[in-house]
Amino acid sequence: MAYRDVYKSWQDNPEAFWMKAAEAIDWDEAPKKALFADNAPLYEWFSDAKVNTCYNAVDRHVKNGRGDQTAFIYDSPITDTIREISFAELQTRVATLAGALKAKGVTKGDRVIIYMPMVPEAMDAMLACARLGAVHSVVFGGFAANELAVRIDDATPKAIIAASCGLEPGRVVEYKPLMDGAIELATHKPDFCVVLQREQHRAELIEGRDHDWADFVKDATPADCVPVEGNHPAYILYTSGTTGAPKGVVRHTAGHLVALNWTMKNIYNVDPGDVWWAASDVGWVVGHSYICYAPLIHGNTSIIFEGKPVGTPDAGTFWRVIEQHNVKSFFTAPTAFRAVKREDPTGEFVKKYDLSCLDQIFLAGERADPDTIIWMQDQLQKPIIDHWWQTELGYPGVCNPVGIELLDVKLGSPSVPLPGFTMNVLDDAGQPLPAGELGAIVIKLPLPPGTLPTLWNAEDRFRKSYLEAFPGYYETGDAGMIDEDGYLYIMARTDDVINVAGHRLSTGGMEEVLAAHPDVAECAVIGVTDALKGQLPVGFVCLNNGATKPHDEIVSDCVKLVREKIGPVAAFKLCCVVDRLPKTRSGKILRGTMVKIADAEPFKMPATIDDPVILDEIKVALTQIGYAQP
Ligand code: COA
Ligand code: AMP
Repeated sequence: MAYRDVYKSWQDNPEAFWMKAAEAIDWDEAPKKALFADNAPLYEWFSDAKVNTCYNAVDRHVKNGRGDQTAFIYDSPITDTIREISFAELQTRVATLAGALKAKGVTKGDRVIIYMPMVPEAMDAMLACARLGAVHSVVFGGFAANELAVRIDDATPKAIIAASCGLEPGRVVEYKPLMDGAIELATHKPDFCVVLQREQHRAELIEGRDHDWADFVKDATPADCVPVEGNHPAYILYTSGTTGAPKGVVRHTAGHLVALNWTMKNIYNVDPGDVWWAASDVGWVVGHSYICYAPLIHGNTSIIFEGKPVGTPDAGTFWRVIEQHNVKSFFTAPTAFRAVKREDPTGEFVKKYDLSCLDQIFLAGERADPDTIIWMQDQLQKPIIDHWWQTELGYPGVCNPVGIELLDVKLGSPSVPLPGFTMNVLDDAGQPLPAGELGAIVIKLPLPPGTLPTLWNAEDRFRKSYLEAFPGYYETGDAGMIDEDGYLYIMARTDDVINVAGHRLSTGGMEEVLAAHPDVAECAVIGVTDALKGQLPVGFVCLNNGATKPHDEIVSDCVKLVREKIGPVAAFKLCCVVDRLPKTRSGKILRGTMVKIADAEPFKMPATIDDPVILDEIKVALTQIGYAQP
């Protein structure tokens, strides 16, 4: 079937479309209907079903004869390790960990925070929670103690599962002190913690609270899968919003299973048994959906990669992994390829490897710049597929659906909407805009299965953030346009979210940190263009009268503070002191204009600007801190 026909079959009868997709899942009680709209505009899918995610990801494959197939390949150039874990072995590992958690009182509905690097035990922890019906919340290792503390207080976990350390090129990141610091900062205290002791650094455990993972699972009785309702939360994943308080995206169990399974063939073009690789991190939604859940549910082999695109040991790592493990389909962020391209512009490493196993590469998380795509196309002679999605959605909404039909690739566009998604571009008054005109990108409600039904403990915030600006639609927070062929173009965010190396961060959150410095009177953080990371944050601080410290010291305090409070992942290294910030006469900081100045883009002088001279001062300040326009 062609893409057009598949999309139309969904349009003609969305519920029948998803009920058909649901047949691929093993249910304890099959759904009798797909959509539950009683509480519209809040929707749920398959709420009347009973099902277990871990059973579908692991146990059923063992039962159906895939026990010996490799479920995970752990490839860690950073520790020089390659290890394969079969579905049968995974079942034992997960059931045992689930048994140990159960013995400590973890049960359906309890929250468990997971704070781990890219090791197989991180997947064990997620799947063990799913096995018990416990709700995991994975926190990315590059976040600092304060960010972890905020999540502990919001999710109120019964337990925290962590590793003693993560490994970054050239340094060991001790996770345990960060976890201890977070627990100290948080008001809520978990009952207990489990710590995976890695040989690169063993952590000191707190008696009575912390358990060494090895001892914890040693004598555990394996636990069975607990069937849960279709609308039972599978997990909470926090993502950046406009303020420093992250949004707890909730994922319901049944829709997650149905939608993810559907995407593996129809989008990513793999069949059960094929090797699939998503080079991301377990702390991001890509890690949840496409390192852990979707490939397993669909019966694929998934690669857990602990390394970087360059430097572990070189810019040929991606190609080595693809050849060595026979990867058929690969997914990562454009920034990773920008890093590879910078180190290997003429593709010398590409030539060293036999990449005939690879059918195509997918990119997401930020705008895929045409230069990088063209370089990849030239080097690989394979389809390079940009696709668009968000943590909230859990999988792509707009994509070139290779598994159905490879459509024309248009550079700069993630292509066309998938079944489940009706994309619209609206003006400020909520009116649809014609093809080619820029506006707010929205999705017609209801969103399809597997997307967020609400925010954890924050239904009001969910309504305000996503449903109120354009009634009847989900507001994506992105701005862009749709062309005459129905291809979508993402141009910018409409809020304070920036994308640094594919990592979603809030400039508002960084401003909150800077504003807490005793010498800072007011501040602005903007995202400027960076040739490698896509965007980088730059901070501008105005000081209180009577601030005594030298400016250099205040700037380095600010850089340190963001690293301490948000984490190294923010890559906040550019900051300067300015006398004033450009504002409108009503006092609104003109961040958008500042971005344009930084990026040397043409801009219209805002009619309401208080004093245009300040814009020159911003330009000078940027030059002084060495920000070179791209
Ligand atoms: N635990 C602890 N610290 C971490 C971390 C983790 N899991 N991940 C990153 N960090 C730290 C890094 O060590 C670095 O610290 P530094 O300031 O001391 O150098 C900082 O956070 C920024 O890291 P990163 O964004 O990885 O930048 P980098 O300069 O080390 O590497 C790239 C640049 C492009 C190679 C890298 O960003 C990359 O591989 N990006 C791909 C992103 C991706 O897969 N995104 C998923 C979305 S699909
Ligand atoms: P995240 O929730 O971290 O996945 O970030 C989602 C945001 O990243 C989107 O709202 C977009 O702003 C951006 N994004 C993701 N994929 C793409 C893409 N293919 N092209 C442009 N922007 C993208």
